[in-house]
Amino acid sequence: MPHGSEKPLVLIAGGSSAAGIATASALLGAGMRVLTVGSDADRIRAAADAAGPAVVPLVCDLADPVDVARLAEVVHRDFGPLDGLIQLVGGWRGGKGIAGQSDEDWDVLHRNVLTTLRNTSRAFYADLDDSAAGRLVIVSSTSVTAPTAGNANYAAAKAAAEAWTQAVGQGFASGTGRGAAVVLVVKALVDDGMRAASPERSFPGFTGVAHLADTIVGLFTQPADAVNGARIDLS
Ligand SMILES: NC(=O)c1ccc[n+]([C@@H]2O[C@H](COP(=O)([O-])OP(=O)(O)OC[C@H]3O[C@@H](n4cnc5c(N)ncnc54)[C@H](OP(=O)(O)O)[C@@H]3O)[C@@H](O)[C@H]2O)c1
Repeated sequence: MPHGSEKPLVLIAGGSSAAGIATASALLGAGMRVLTVGSDADRIRAAADAAGPAVVPLVCDLADPVDVARLAEVVHRDFGPLDGLIQLVGGWRGGKGIAGQSDEDWDVLHRNVLTTLRNTSRAFYADLDDSAAGRLVIVSSTSVTAPTAGNANYAAAKAAAEAWTQAVGQGFASGTGRGAAVVLVVKALVDDGMRAASPERSFPGFTGVAHLADTIVGLFTQPADAVNGARIDLS
């Protein structure tokens, strides 16, 4: 077992979306203890309810390092050390050409995509490195390897998040060697609600949230050295 005899404990950072609900549900189904975190109490409670009765909703502004330190205290006190951190906070902003990449959009993307990841991965790094199967997972974008002028802010923020995640993986490899940091790559996500709203669309290249969730669950059963540093394209 990852930490003592308890079931693995996994925290979803930014769990209010369809991807967060699908991931929480899949992790729960795989026998894990699941905490799901959002900035809005009503939205994260609704997401936890939709994912399953044992999923625990927690409220935190993951962009605020003081709030994340408080979250880590609560998690350690009430649940114990983490075995998995699934980082889902994202958001998309585009603009017209390079000159149209606004500072406001950059601030939002930098905060949501990179700052939240830095905050959570530092707060829970020791837990993950100490676990028998510690996993950090982020969801990145195909735009990192095919950036356009219109999404330069977004692609740059995602590229930075990928670099940070690879650095965490290097830390794991030079630490206990039991942790793994993984980048999953999608072009776009699709869920049942989106398919029902547009039955005529085929969503080419989109990744279903259930497939994303199953892939995340599978990362916990593979050896760390087989997945640490991997960049897995699900598009
Ligand atoms: N959706 C796509 O098509 C797509 C495409 C490429 C990559 N991705 C990536 O896939 C991942 C999941 O995508 P998604 O669309 O499900 O993510 P998302 O909706 O952008 O983010 C997930 C959740 O994070 C929460 N959140 C935002 N800021 C927060 C903060 N400061 N503190 C705590 N929670 C916060 C939001 O809920 P609250 O506002 O209720 O807190 C939101 O529902 C993201 O990393 C995204 O960039 C998605």
